Amino acid sequence: MSAPNKSYDPVEVEALKPEEIERLRDEAFAAFAAAGDLDALAQAKTAHTGGTSPLSLANREIGALPPQAKAEAGKRVGQARGAVSKALAARQAELEAERDARVLVEEAVDVTLPYDRVPAGARHPLTTIMERVADVFVAMGYEIAEGPEVEAEWFNFDALNFVPDHPARQMQDTFFVQGTTPDGKVTEGDESGVVLRTHTSPVQARSLLERKPPVYVVCPGRVYRTDELDATHTPVFHQIELLAVDEGLTMADLKGTLDHMVQALFGPDMKTRLRPNFFPFTEPSAEMDMVCYVCRGESVGNPDRPCRTCGSEGWIELGGCGMVNPKVLTACGVDPRKYSGFAFGFGIERMLMFRHNVEDMRDMVEGDVRFTRPFGMEI
Ligand code: PHE
Repeated sequence: MSAPNKSYDPVEVEALKPEEIERLRDEAFAAFAAAGDLDALAQAKTAHTGGTSPLSLANREIGALPPQAKAEAGKRVGQARGAVSKALAARQAELEAERDARVLVEEAVDVTLPYDRVPAGARHPLTTIMERVADVFVAMGYEIAEGPEVEAEWFNFDALNFVPDHPARQMQDTFFVQGTTPDGKVTEGDESGVVLRTHTSPVQARSLLERKPPVYVVCPGRVYRTDELDATHTPVFHQIELLAVDEGLTMADLKGTLDHMVQALFGPDMKTRLRPNFFPFTEPSAEMDMVCYVCRGESVGNPDRPCRTCGSEGWIELGGCGMVNPKVLTACGVDPRKYSGFAFGFGIERMLMFRHNVEDMRDMVEGDVRFTRPFGMEI
C-alpha cells in the first residue's frame, strides 16, 4: 500500500511556484493598467482571467496535487486570482467612469440652442388684412365669391353699364389680353374682348348670374391697371368688393354695413361718411370715407397736432359705393322692381398703407422679409 507522498512539494511544480504565480499576477496587473479603454480591458480580461489564461491553467494543476499540498497551492493561486479580479474590477470601474465623463462632455445636448433654425414662413400682410376684412362679412352671413382675373370685357365693363366709349376701357388704362380669332388670326389691341380685370366688380355680375336673390357676397381678389409701379401705384393690386341684393335694401343698409365694417376693423367709435360720386354700375353712387383712425379727427383745425395719415383732414378715403344700378340687375336677370341692392369696393393696398403707416407701395410687392416680418408670423 502506498502512503501519500509527504515529500511532494507543490513549489516544485513549475506553474505553481510562488514566484511564477506572483509574476502571472503582476503581468495581469500590468496588462489591466496598460488597457487604455474598455475594449482593451476586455481583451486583457480574457487573456489573464479566461479559461486558458496562465493563472487558470495553474489553478487546474492544483487538482493533481496530494491533499496536503493542495491547500497551500490553492491559497496561493486563489489569492493571486482574487487580487487579479479585484484589480480588473477596479480598472473596469475607472475606465467606465472615464468613459461616462467623456460621453457627458462629448454628447452633451445644449438645450438652450434654438431648436428650429429655419424660420417659419408667413402669409403676406396683404393677404391677412384682406382675409380679416372678408371675415367681418362672413360673420354677418356673407358668402365669399371669386371670379377670374382674366375676364371677359363684357363682365368687366358691359354688364356694369360702362358705355362703349368710357375712358376706363381704353388701352392706356386697361390691359387687354391678346387672343386668336377662330380663323387663327392673332388679335391686336383691344380686339380680343378679354381683359385683366380692372376691379372686382365683375364678380358682382357673375354672382348675380350664378345665384338667385337674396345674394350677399364678398369678393376679395387681385386686379390690374396699366399704372407704373411707384410709391402710390402698382399695376397689380387687390380689392375687396361687397354686394347685397335683396328685397327692400336701401342706402341706410349700405351706411350701416360700412359703419359696422370700420368699427370691426378699426375700433368701436369709428364711422364713415358718403360723398356724392359717379360709377356706371351704381346709382346713386358715393365715395366713402372713414374717420382717420390715427387722429380720430382731432387734427382738424388744430395746427399743433397735425396728422400725416389724413393730412389733417380728419377723414380717409376708403373707396366707392352705391346702390346697384337697376340696369346691372336687369343685365344679370334680376328684376329691379322686386329687388334692390348695394355694393362697395376698395383697395387693400391703400388700407394697409394707412392702417400700418406704409409709405411706399413698392415695399408691398418686393417680397423683402424685412418689410413683412414686423407684421408677425400669422399663417
Ligand atoms: N369698382 C370700383 C372701383 O374700382 C369701386 C366700386 C365698387 C364702386 C362697388 C361702387 C360699387 O373703383
